Amino acid sequence: MDKYGLIGFPLKHSFSPLIHNKAFKYLNIDAHYEKYEVSDQKFEHSILQLKESDIKGFNVTVPYKQKIIPYIDELEPLAKKVGAINTIKKSGNRWIGYNTDLYGLLIPLENHLKLISSVLIIGAGGAGNAACFALLNKKEIRKIDIVNRSKENAINLSHSLKKEFTFEGEVYDSKEIIKNRNKYDLIINTTSVGMGDLIKESPINITSVAHKKTIVYDLIYNPKETLLLKTAIKQNLRVINGLKMLIGQAKKSFEIWTGQEYPANIISEDFFYKK
Ligand code: ATR
Repeated sequence: MDKYGLIGFPLKHSFSPLIHNKAFKYLNIDAHYEKYEVSDQKFEHSILQLKESDIKGFNVTVPYKQKIIPYIDELEPLAKKVGAINTIKKSGNRWIGYNTDLYGLLIPLENHLKLISSVLIIGAGGAGNAACFALLNKKEIRKIDIVNRSKENAINLSHSLKKEFTFEGEVYDSKEIIKNRNKYDLIINTTSVGMGDLIKESPINITSVAHKKTIVYDLIYNPKETLLLKTAIKQNLRVINGLKMLIGQAKKSFEIWTGQEYPANIISEDFFYKK
């Protein structure tokens, strides 16, 4: 049986094993996908062990998408540019790294891109960087502002993006954004504020930055509706959670590993959120 998996911490609530194992079963592929929850102290040891193992491929999630890079033998060009990977495929004894998050992130926006020119990204970590990269690869989008708890991290992200792309973009800290007069077509939360221990919190107050047609996109998929999305729904705004992105990146990883397309219609959103 071929082995696949997911490395990260914590992984208790991950939907990835469900997504991949369902497709392996459906396509009669003799393979299994499992979680490898790895603490920061055991990270190097676990990676070296995995390198010796016969695992065919794995996903990497928070907090290791950047930290794993030194252990990768070859990076796909886009992954190299973004500096973060979420998918590894073993080829002979070599590990090849890919970033399928960028693809997944755009999936729920595809039908809306014509209506989006200005974007506010909340957060300036790895996920914030990936979101900016994915969007700036789209010609429609030329204005991206970033708001972050620490302004310094937002400034650093903006500088590194401006080396790669030509775009208009301001940075704000969480206090300054309230006084900002811009309204955005799309607001994306890339922080973990709204999940886990931060489930009762919202990363910003969207009232001052949203117009009537703003799309509010939270990369969090569990809970289904974060406080940010609940507030947006109350204001009759269009909302998107992170499930479509999760499924999108998983499908792409599946294709990289197996060379087969992820079967259509074997999973739906209800499948994950049933009580
Ligand atoms: P990831 O790779 O998932 O993006 P990260 O690199 O640790 O993770 O970045 C986390 C992001 O969430 C950062 O933008 C962080 O803000 P800081 O740059 O100020 O640290 C933001 N974040 C995390 N916890 C937060 C909190 N409690 N309130 C506001 N922002 C938070």
